Amino acid sequence: MTARRVVVTGLGIVSPVGVGVKHAWNNIISGKSGVRSLTAQYPDAGYDKLPSQIAGIIPRQGAYAEGKFDPKEWLEPGDAKRMANFTQYAMCAAQQALTDAGWTEPADEQRERTGVCFGTGIGSMEDIIENQRQYTAGGLRKVSPMFLPKILCNMAAGNISIRYGFYGPNHAVSTACTTGAHAIGDAMRFISFGDTDVMLAGASEAPLVPLALAGFSKIKALALGFNDQPQAASRPFDIDRSGFVIGEGAGALVLEELEHARKRNAYIYAEVKGYGLSGDGFHITAPPSEGAGAIRAMKRAVQIAGISLADIGYINAHATSTPLGDVIENRAIKSVFSDPSLRQQLAISSTKSATGHLLGAAGAIEAVFSVLAVKHNIVPPTLNLDTLDVAAGLDLNYVPHTAQERTIKAALTNSFGFGGTNATLIFAKAP
Ligand SMILES: *[C@@H]1O[C@H](CO)[C@@H](O)[C@H](O)[C@H]1NC(C)=O
Ligand SMILES: *[C@@H]1O[C@H](CO)[C@@H](O)[C@H](O)[C@H]1NC(C)=O
Ligand SMILES: *[C@@H]1O[C@H](CO)[C@@H](O)[C@H](O)[C@H]1NC(C)=O
Repeated sequence: MTARRVVVTGLGIVSPVGVGVKHAWNNIISGKSGVRSLTAQYPDAGYDKLPSQIAGIIPRQGAYAEGKFDPKEWLEPGDAKRMANFTQYAMCAAQQALTDAGWTEPADEQRERTGVCFGTGIGSMEDIIENQRQYTAGGLRKVSPMFLPKILCNMAAGNISIRYGFYGPNHAVSTACTTGAHAIGDAMRFISFGDTDVMLAGASEAPLVPLALAGFSKIKALALGFNDQPQAASRPFDIDRSGFVIGEGAGALVLEELEHARKRNAYIYAEVKGYGLSGDGFHITAPPSEGAGAIRAMKRAVQIAGISLADIGYINAHATSTPLGDVIENRAIKSVFSDPSLRQQLAISSTKSATGHLLGAAGAIEAVFSVLAVKHNIVPPTLNLDTLDVAAGLDLNYVPHTAQERTIKAALTNSFGFGGTNATLIFAKAP
């Protein structure tokens, strides 16, 4: 069997830098940040008692045409109550991507060849907390019948397939902050193996509840010292980085077998060229210091892609703005791109500087940005990169402050998650 090639034919995004590809991409390349104060947004929620009170927050109170999220534009009346926020964001991103691909109403036999691979890292912590509260206060009769369906991590995948009648593979990945990359990579495998022809792939996260921030504070993961200047908090590779900024949102891609897309004259954004996976087998949160897991994931993706390292012009780094993580990923990149002339022509940036870290959804929105970088030949900037941490070996081109134009034959994007799980995706110019 010759491997079937897989291309991207639709994109959708719900993110702190905007809802819709047009707004999100314009904001990301013009250096706008979506990080805001949680205490200002939700004054009564109790964020003021926490050390980190900022997040990448989806713009609301406005229409899609303005790049904002209004559930009423995307959900049937009553559905908002039946769907947790992570599922709502997923429905919105999926609708955008399917509309973009012209695949919202495929014929019956095409529905059987269309699947969904959509994950979340955490699911709906909010509904667990709320139902526990109700149960404690009023016992069984106060527990919602929607409680369990709402919190299941595969419910976004389920709701998407129900709405569009997709009868192909229905899968939901949950691998912490690697979820989005795994969802897209696995979907690519389903198509290239021949299980199906079209997949809606992506991930979603709605983690903005005080308890989640409390938990991340306890493992000392969040950026501290920026509550008064939220937009300066996410600063990957910068000497003053102090941790990540949590964020919410979803990213969706329509993946399609190349000949299938050509036959129906679909617009092709890029090809999904490489997918590499690895595990650290080391520690639940700390990566091994030389980044062995990341090295294996990147090398494998390049090998699968069958391209030369010189073709990779852009790396959308996992870089979350933590003191240790950014340095180790950088070490891993240097180890893969060992030839100095290869490193010189690389542009590396972290869009988390603008969006914050969307946990399970990070790999999905970063895949969207990587695809757009390949399509437009533009590298999004790393915001807040005022002083490179050179002493820690950060001495490459990390695209500080301003986007860079360059020909990008292929872009590589990394995702690493707790538990020691690593994945790399490579997108190349449309064939
Ligand atoms: C989505 O799933 C919920 C169960 O969590 C169900 O009640 C609802 O009807 C579903 N809606 C759609 C559009 O699939
Ligand atoms: C869910 O969305 C509602 C608004 O529709 C918001 O008030 C609430 O804070 C959100 N919760 C989470 C966990 O995102
Ligand atoms: C792989 O995943 C782990 C998850 O704990 C992550 O922390 C680490 O950065 C990744 N490994 C590296 C960079 O070698």
